[in-house]
Amino acid sequence: MSGEELVDAIEAASGRHAGKRRAHATGIVATGTFTATPAAAGLCTAGAMQGGAVPATVRFSNGSGNPATRDDDQDGRGIAMKLRAEGDPAWDLIGLSLPQFFVRTPEDFVAFVAARTPDPATGELDMAKVGAFLEAHPEALGAAGAAITAPIPASYAEVRFHGIHSFHWTGPDGTRRAVRYEWAPDAGEAAVDPAATGRPPDHLRQELAELLAAGSASFALWVVLAGEGDAIDDPTERWPDERERVEVGQLELTSIGAPDAEASLIFDPVNVPPGVECSDDPLLAARSRAYGVSYARRTAGD
Ligand code: HEM
Repeated sequence: MSGEELVDAIEAASGRHAGKRRAHATGIVATGTFTATPAAAGLCTAGAMQGGAVPATVRFSNGSGNPATRDDDQDGRGIAMKLRAEGDPAWDLIGLSLPQFFVRTPEDFVAFVAARTPDPATGELDMAKVGAFLEAHPEALGAAGAAITAPIPASYAEVRFHGIHSFHWTGPDGTRRAVRYEWAPDAGEAAVDPAATGRPPDHLRQELAELLAAGSASFALWVVLAGEGDAIDDPTERWPDERERVEVGQLELTSIGAPDAEASLIFDPVNVPPGVECSDDPLLAARSRAYGVSYARRTAGD
C-alpha cells in the first residue's frame, strides 16, 4: 500500500490542515542530550550507545491529525527522538503512550481509520462502525482498551512511552537480539483531574516550556529483550511483563526547540544506524512511506 493511500485515508478522517503533520499535528520540540549507560555498549554497536553525551532532538505530540484538538483531549501521546551520534546517520526512535498498536498491516490501518471517521452529519464517532471493526479485528482490542482508559497526562515529562515495534540490536560480540524501547519518565507518571476545568488548550506545551525554562526534564530509556516465542513482527502483541529489561541510557532535555524546528523536522522509524536493524514488521516500511508523503505535503504548504 502506498504512502499516498495511507495519508489520504488519514486526511479523510481528520481533515487536510495546511502545513501540519497529517497525524500528531500538535506538539512541541525540545533539545538536550542522550547518554548511554555502560550496559548499552554490550548490547548495541551504534555510536549513541557507546556512552558519550549525544545531541538529542525530541518532539512530543498528541496523536490526532486535527490541529484544533486540545492537549487535554482523550488521545494517545507521542515521543519522537532523533539522536545524532558523530559518524552515524541520524537515529529516530519513536513511541506512543500506548503499549501496543491497533493493527498489524497497512490495509487494516486504512480500515481502522475509516471506521473511526466521524459521521459527517453529527461530527461524532459512529460506534456501530467502530464496534464492527473491533469484532472483525480482536487484535485491536488491547490498544483500543488502553486508549479509552488512558489518563490525561499532567506533563509530557510524566508519560511512559512505548516503542511498540521490535528492532534488532547487534552487540560487539556479534549477538543479535530483538528489542523494544520504553521511555520511563524520571518524574514518574502523573495525570490531570478530569473533573477540573479551565486548563489552556495547549496546557502540555505550556507546561513543558515552563519546566525547561526553570530546569530540565529526563527519561530513562529501557530496552525489553524478546523471549522465546515472542511476536517480533506484530505491533498488536505485547510481550510478557517478566521479560528481561535493560536500562540503556538517560535522555535529558534542557531547552525548547527553535520555533521553525518543528516544521522542518521529520522522524522516520526506519532511520537506524549500523548496529540496529528494523524487524520485518510490515507497518515499519508502511509508516516510512506515509511519513514521507505527509512531510512532502506539509512542507509544500498543502
Ligand atoms: C500504518 C500505521 C501508521 C501510519 C500510517 C502513521 C502515520 C503517521 C503520519 C502520516 C505522521 C505524520 C508524519 C510527518 O508529517 O512527519 C505520523 C506521526 C507520528 N506517528 Fe505515526 N503512523 C502509524 C503508526 C504509528 C505507530 C505504530 C507509532 C508508534 C510507535 C506512531 C507514532 C507516531 C508519532 C510519535 C508521530 C509524530 C512524529 C513527529 O513528532 O514528527 N505511528 N504518523
